[in-house]
Amino acid sequence: MSSTTLAVRPTGVERVLADDQLIVSKTDLKGRLTYTNDVFLTISAIEEQDAIGRPHNLIRHPSMPRGIFRLLWDTLRAGDELFAYVQNLALDGAHYWVFAHVTPSRDAQGRVVGYHSTRRAVSARARAEVERLYGQMLQVEAQHPGRGADEASLTWLQDRLTEQGQTYSEWLWSVAGGAR
Ligand SMILES: Cc1cc2nc3c(=O)[nH]c(=O)nc-3n(C[C@H](O)[C@H](O)[C@H](O)COP(=O)(O)O)c2cc1C
Repeated sequence: MSSTTLAVRPTGVERVLADDQLIVSKTDLKGRLTYTNDVFLTISAIEEQDAIGRPHNLIRHPSMPRGIFRLLWDTLRAGDELFAYVQNLALDGAHYWVFAHVTPSRDAQGRVVGYHSTRRAVSARARAEVERLYGQMLQVEAQHPGRGADEASLTWLQDRLTEQGQTYSEWLWSVAGGAR
């Protein structure tokens, strides 16, 4: 997607979603925000009028592997849903981790007209596993500077999980856990 991300510097301050909070956003086919709920706005430190119409990479965290977003878009463009762990960057520099579900939205004829995402808190157990795996993906990306980084780290991820006999989705649920 277009790289119009603002130059927000991460402060290291972490925000944690409460167990009863859900972040919701919707986008058009190009990933531009068309709807954000209040939890999204508050945790991302953004006003609604500054969010609507902007690309969703508005809250992209620089420590997120590109390969995860490649997986996200490959999956959505195939018409499928995806669950993923994502670290986001609020506009005041704080960050927050989410367990996200992202899915195409369809009209009455079944045509994809946009995308929809709902996110909840990440368990402490999952968090440690995710940071380890994503850290390794970032190392792969550092060895592939430029446009091929996303494909390189996604291939590395899929090979690594295949060795374990898992897909990304199976791995994601296996580390999800219940307790925080
Ligand atoms: C419905 C939907 C929700 C998304 N949610 C996020 C999100 O929470 N955080 C994020 O960084 N990217 C999210 N993305 C992916 C962004 O569109 C974008 O691909 C990503 O931030 C990487 O930015 P880049 O493609 O400019 O590198 C979402 C995309 C869609 C379609």
